[in-house]
Amino acid sequence: MLKFASSISVPAYISKQNLFGPTVLSHPSLAYFCGVNNSIHPEEKVSGNGSLEKSKTAILAIESSCDETSASVCVDGKILSNIIATQAVHEQYGGVVPELASRAHIQNIVPVIDAALSAANYQLSAIDAIAFTQAPGLIGSLLVGAQFAKSLSLALDKPLIAVHHMQAHVLANLIAEPRPAFPFLCLTVSGGHTQIVLAHSPLQLEIIGETIDDAAGEAFDKSAKMLGLPYPGGPLIDKYAKQGNAKAFKFAEPQIPGLNFSFSGLKTSVLYSLQKEVKNNPAFIEENLYDLCASVQYTIIHILMKKLKKATEQTGIKQVCIAGGVSANSGLRIALKEYGIKYNWQTFIPAFEYCTDNAAMIAITAYYKYLAGDFAGLSISPTARAEW
Ligand code: KG4
Ligand code: ZN
Repeated sequence: MLKFASSISVPAYISKQNLFGPTVLSHPSLAYFCGVNNSIHPEEKVSGNGSLEKSKTAILAIESSCDETSASVCVDGKILSNIIATQAVHEQYGGVVPELASRAHIQNIVPVIDAALSAANYQLSAIDAIAFTQAPGLIGSLLVGAQFAKSLSLALDKPLIAVHHMQAHVLANLIAEPRPAFPFLCLTVSGGHTQIVLAHSPLQLEIIGETIDDAAGEAFDKSAKMLGLPYPGGPLIDKYAKQGNAKAFKFAEPQIPGLNFSFSGLKTSVLYSLQKEVKNNPAFIEENLYDLCASVQYTIIHILMKKLKKATEQTGIKQVCIAGGVSANSGLRIALKEYGIKYNWQTFIPAFEYCTDNAAMIAITAYYKYLAGDFAGLSISPTARAEW
């Protein structure tokens, strides 16, 4: 695995002699950012003694863990911008190609940060801290965001905040009203992870259940692939499921004890059913696409909701959220609301743009870390691993 040297890594375009004096940047893009239009932002005010005082905390956050390059500006916990560049290049390969993802991040990161600052009407000089996704994810993708954030932190002499991507998905629920009260439960369902998290406070998050094999997003994407749908298949299954009968086909559901999940059995069950049917009728998938999508989606949602219900029973907590890319699924969103009504839960679902990968969730998490004084040193390395 790639690792940074433990010493401070200085980007070539920052001349060393300027490291400890006024920052002079020779790279045109950074010079553009930092260079620095020194106009005072509206948030700044002149204090009684005539000096400039900033009344608010502004954070610039960068997300680059997989195939979305995103930047967000957040001021005192309020999201002012959330720019997301999705990498279409992977579609033709049926999945994310790590090397291509890293290259696309390198191309996107400057314009995306630029757009986030413009949309927020903020100057880089008015930013108080730089946040980035430190883990988990594709290491090459993480490295781009991490190195850029470290460079900005060094150049601007502003603190650096390292954010865990899965914790950020959970805290996406704190971005806008209505917000859950602590403690709350969050079912985090993404392309790489499926977890039930017990949130004691913004920075005290406990995983009480997780998948032992595939993630829910993978179950969507792999089933979609078997149905001949392009990557990422989750949103397409969602779309076609709306026109299908969810009870048309029955797929195996796992019997895993406790609050853990398993989705590899479902994948095999879908594969074997399709193989059997296609042998008899080569047009089977085409003729039954909507019903197949609806049935796969129903099964995944049923597996997820059964465990979430169990978690509420075990903990007695009735503040229940969902998060992660799969929480954009319309069937899951409806199911959560229905369970909420039936079992007397208070339910919370982030807006669509905060479900799939985005920097706003990194920014809100960084805001709580800023308040707690939880800063990272420049020697910090990103890591592909998920532990927190
Ligand atoms: O959180 P996310 O954007 O990236 C990761 O951190 O993995 O999640 C991506 C996953 C993919 O598997 C994608 O197919 C799935 O979220 N997804 C959906 C929907 N939108 C995104 N799955 C089902 N229905 C959707 N509407
Ligand atoms: Zn994610």
